[in-house]
Amino acid sequence: MNKALEHDADILDQFTRQALPFAQRHASDGEMLRLLVEASGVGPDDRILDIACGPGLVSCAFAAKVRQVTGLDMVPAMLERARILQGEQGHVNIDWRQGTATALPFAEGIFDAVITRFSFHHYLDPAAALREMKRVCKPSGTLMVADVTPRADAQKAYNEVEKLRDPSHTRALTEAEFEALGRVSGMKLLRKITYRLESDLEGLLEASFPLPGDSDKVRDQFRNDLDKGTDHLGVEAHRRNGQIYFFFPITAFVWQMP
Ligand SMILES: C[S@@+](CC[C@H](N)C(=O)[O-])C[C@H]1O[C@@H](n2cnc3c(N)ncnc32)[C@H](O)[C@@H]1O
Repeated sequence: MNKALEHDADILDQFTRQALPFAQRHASDGEMLRLLVEASGVGPDDRILDIACGPGLVSCAFAAKVRQVTGLDMVPAMLERARILQGEQGHVNIDWRQGTATALPFAEGIFDAVITRFSFHHYLDPAAALREMKRVCKPSGTLMVADVTPRADAQKAYNEVEKLRDPSHTRALTEAEFEALGRVSGMKLLRKITYRLESDLEGLLEASFPLPGDSDKVRDQFRNDLDKGTDHLGVEAHRRNGQIYFFFPITAFVWQMP
């Protein structure tokens, strides 16, 4: 199997199994979702594409503010969760598509805004994914990417530990790398917001599907920082009631299309 097909198989495997636990763990993301909708600057007449929509949390948050949302993901189990959430929230202006981020099944320039959260660190070719986002967005439209952005000096360790926790992880980019991607593709950075999303390590490991033996390697990396009082993972690991917690450092970039 070539590298791209192998990676697609990893995504399908992880996110079929993660669909329910991911949806449950992120059901309380309301504050972050409100920030994203606000930062995007979208309006009631806009048509939005949410790429790698997963269980539909982001799509549903935008659906309440815009005319139409299309949520796209490559994993059917995620789209099933998304339809359930849509039904629970009663949105009539969302449609769901199965597809891949680097070959979007849409014509050029048809969306007012193209958004994606927590997806770029799963891509083999982030530049190709950004090119596709641009292709389907209208001139002067909005692109928004929200993802984990590790500190430059923690990036290598962060990516290694995330790959152990979730084998479908590829590489989280730093803020500077995202800004460079946007610049090179000729987009204007309109705004950038940062957010720290707290997570408990054991709950996250339960909701992920590491290879046998790798959960302990992940725990060791967190304990190493806690025992030494360092932050080589760049996630501010801390203990509360005997449990390990940490913060995902997240940045949302809002660009304007040429
Ligand atoms: C961590 S989840 C994020 C879900 C959602 N965006 C959110 O923030 O709630 C990552 C999602 O990306 C999807 N995904 C990963 N690579 C993809 C690709 N190349 N094309 C489409 N979807 C992809 C996975 O199936 C999964 O649903």
